[in-house]
Amino acid sequence: MSPAPPPDFAPDPERFRRIVVLSGAGLSAAAGLGTFRGDGGLWTLAPELERAMHGDLLPDNLPDLWRVWGGMFRRAGAAGPTPGHLALAAMGARVLTQNVDTLHQRAGSDPVIELHGTTARAACVDGCPWTAPLADEDRGGSGEGAEDYGLPARCPCCGAHVRPDVVLFGESLPADALARAVDAVTSCDLFLAVGTSGTVAPASSLAPMAKQAGAVTVNLAPDAVDSPVFDHALRADAQHLLPDWAEAFRAA
Ligand code: OAD
Repeated sequence: MSPAPPPDFAPDPERFRRIVVLSGAGLSAAAGLGTFRGDGGLWTLAPELERAMHGDLLPDNLPDLWRVWGGMFRRAGAAGPTPGHLALAAMGARVLTQNVDTLHQRAGSDPVIELHGTTARAACVDGCPWTAPLADEDRGGSGEGAEDYGLPARCPCCGAHVRPDVVLFGESLPADALARAVDAVTSCDLFLAVGTSGTVAPASSLAPMAKQAGAVTVNLAPDAVDSPVFDHALRADAQHLLPDWAEAFRAA
């Protein structure tokens, strides 16, 4: 990948006080978590895994779910947040994330609104209120079962299977997270989409709601930054651009 061209936009810390970021897998790629689409993306490399990520395949798809999302939880824990995550925290941005890896929280961002759930928590397949955190330490095993993450295989409340608390295709986003996201976007003074292909709804519908402010996308891929939704489309590596921006915020 050749170096990104110099961007034609940088947020002024004096002017932008209510920055909202919508982050995607591209922000966490530098932590070794990869992306989903494009060259090297998980869904590109293993389309059968993408097909397995449907809510209507539960509970038969649980081994794939634990492998993908439990594995991501372990890798994210080992890697920690990237310079891009730390920069967004330093900028005081409110974070709406499609990522399920907890790296924004580990970077110190607050609030972090998780639109697609989290790999850090398990839930009951039948939707009863029981949830539990995954164990931080690696428990070994194949990684394809709840027990490998220090969890019971069955919900202690109702006996149904235990699943990663990640939103699957065909499932609704958590209603409170979506409502908080819309609220944040419609009251922001700058909307930044970082490292997302913008192909998955309803997260993809948030940027047009930010038109009262200004919407900017930061993405490595030229074809991902051509959207008329954005006022500025910056072809750049988030790991280089965001730390540069954060310097100005730290100095302000
Ligand atoms: P995608 O894999 O669809 O897109 C990642 C984007 O990040 C691509 O457009 C890349 O060009 C860009 N990118 C990669 N590295 C970058 C970098 N260093 N700097 C800037 N941009 C970079 O990931 P998402 O848009 O997050 O859903 O995907 C959305 C949802 O689809 C995910 O949350 C997941 C997936 O199915 C669920 O699992 C529920």
